[in-house]
Amino acid sequence: MTPAVWASAAPAVTFTMAGILEAVVARGSNGVTWTALAFATLLSFGGAAPAGPAAFDWRLPPGWSPPPVPADNPMNAAKVELGRWLFYDRRLSASGEMACASCHQQARGFSDGLPTHVGATGQPGLRNAMALANVGWFKELTWVDPTITSLEQQAHTPMYGAHPVEMGLPPGDGGIWRKLSGEACYSRLTPRAFPGAGARLTPDLAVKAIAAFERTLISADAPFDRYRRGDASAVSEQARKGMALFYGPRFQCAVCHVGPRFTDADKPDGRHAIGSGLLPGEDQGYDTPALAVEQGRYRTPSLRNVALSAPYLHDGSAPRLEDAIVAHRGVTFGILTADDLPPLVAFLKALTDETLTTSPRFGPPNFTKCKLPARILAYPAL
Ligand code: HEC
Ligand code: HEC
Repeated sequence: MTPAVWASAAPAVTFTMAGILEAVVARGSNGVTWTALAFATLLSFGGAAPAGPAAFDWRLPPGWSPPPVPADNPMNAAKVELGRWLFYDRRLSASGEMACASCHQQARGFSDGLPTHVGATGQPGLRNAMALANVGWFKELTWVDPTITSLEQQAHTPMYGAHPVEMGLPPGDGGIWRKLSGEACYSRLTPRAFPGAGARLTPDLAVKAIAAFERTLISADAPFDRYRRGDASAVSEQARKGMALFYGPRFQCAVCHVGPRFTDADKPDGRHAIGSGLLPGEDQGYDTPALAVEQGRYRTPSLRNVALSAPYLHDGSAPRLEDAIVAHRGVTFGILTADDLPPLVAFLKALTDETLTTSPRFGPPNFTKCKLPARILAYPAL
C-alpha cells in the first residue's frame, strides 16, 4: 500500500496510511469500534505551528497549517481580491462570456453540473470540471497531468490552452489586459496586490492573483467537521454508519480519499486506476504522450462538497454519488452491496460546507460598482 502523508509545507504530523490500517486491523480485533479508531486517526493531524507569511489571515480551521505559497507570489488581501475579480470576469475569454466561474460555480462546490463543458469557441470539453476546495495543498493538479504542479501554472491552461480550448484567449493578446488595467477597481487593486510592479495588469500578474484567491478556497466547515470537533448531533446516524464504512476494513476509502482533504493529492502521484474506464479517442490518460503508459490513472478528487458537484468522475459519466461509488470496481474492495450505498452517500453529504459554497467572500464581486474594503485600500500601493 502506498504510504500517505498529510503534511503540508509546514512540518505537520505525518503518518503512513499503511501503518494506520495495520494498527486499526490489529486493534479492531480487540473490539475497538471502527468509528472511534478512525477519529483517533483524524484527530492526530496538524498540530504544527503555522509557518510562512504570518501577515495573511488564512482563517484556517483548528489543526491546519497554511498551504504552501510560492516565494514569488506571497499572499496579501488585495491580491486575493484581485484574483476573485478575475476569477469571475467573463471578459477573460474569446467570447467575452466565459469566466473561471462558468465552470467552477460556488453553489456547486466550484464545479458546473455538466459532464463536460463546451469551451468559449465551441470546442467540446474533454473532462469533467473539478470541484475546487483546498486546492492550495495539492501537489499535482487536474485529473491526469503530473506536470501541472502549481495553481499559477494551472490557471494558464483554461485561459490559453488548446487541448481543449476553454476560455480561448489569444496568446500574447494585450488588448484585454490593457482594457482591465484602465478600469477603476483593477487599477486600484493591481498596484496594491503587487507593490512595486506598476499598475498594469499582465497575464503573469493575473494568474498570480487568481492562484492567491484559489488558495483561500478552504473547505473545513461541513457537518463532518463539526462532528469531528465534538458536536455529536452534527451528522445523522445514517451518516455515522457511512463513516464507519468509509474508514473501515471492507472499503478503505480513506486510503486514497485521505485525511481532512479527502484526497492523496497533498503528495505527488496521487493517481489511481479504479476501473472507471477511459474516454474513447483523445483522452487516454495523460496529455504528455511519454507518460501515456500510465493510462487510466486519475488524480484522486477531493470529496469535499461532493454532493453538490454531480456528475462525477473524470469524464462526468457517473450521474449520481451511488454511480460514482459503484464505478470503483477495479479497487480491491469487499463486496459492495445495495445496503452499503445509502449510508456511504449520507456520509458524503455530510461533507457539504456551506461556508465555502455560500460565503460572499468567495462569490462574485459587484462589477457595476467598484467598492473595495478599507483594509484593502489601506494596503500600500506602489
Ligand atoms: C470550460 C470549463 C472550464 C473553465 C472556463 C475553467 N476550468 Fe478549471 N477545470 C476544468 C476542467 C475540465 C478541469 C479538469 C481538467 C483536466 O483534468 O484535464 C479543471 C481543473 C481545474 C483545476 C484543478 C483542480 C484539481 O483538483 O486538481 C483548477 C485549480 C482549476 N481548474 C482552476 C481554474 C481557473 C483558475 C480557471 C480560470 C482561469 C478555470 N479553472 C477555468 C474546466 C474549466
Ligand atoms: C484506490 C484509490 C481509491 C479508493 C480506495 C477509493 N477511491 Fe473514490 N476515487 C478515486 C479516484 C482515482 C477517483 C476518480 C476516478 C475517475 O475519475 O475516473 C475517485 C472518485 C470518487 C468519487 C467521485 C468524485 C468526483 O468528484 O467525481 C466519489 C464519490 C468517490 N470516489 C467515493 C469513494 C468511496 C465512497 C470510496 C470507498 C467506498 C472510494 N471512493 C474509494 C480513488 C479511490
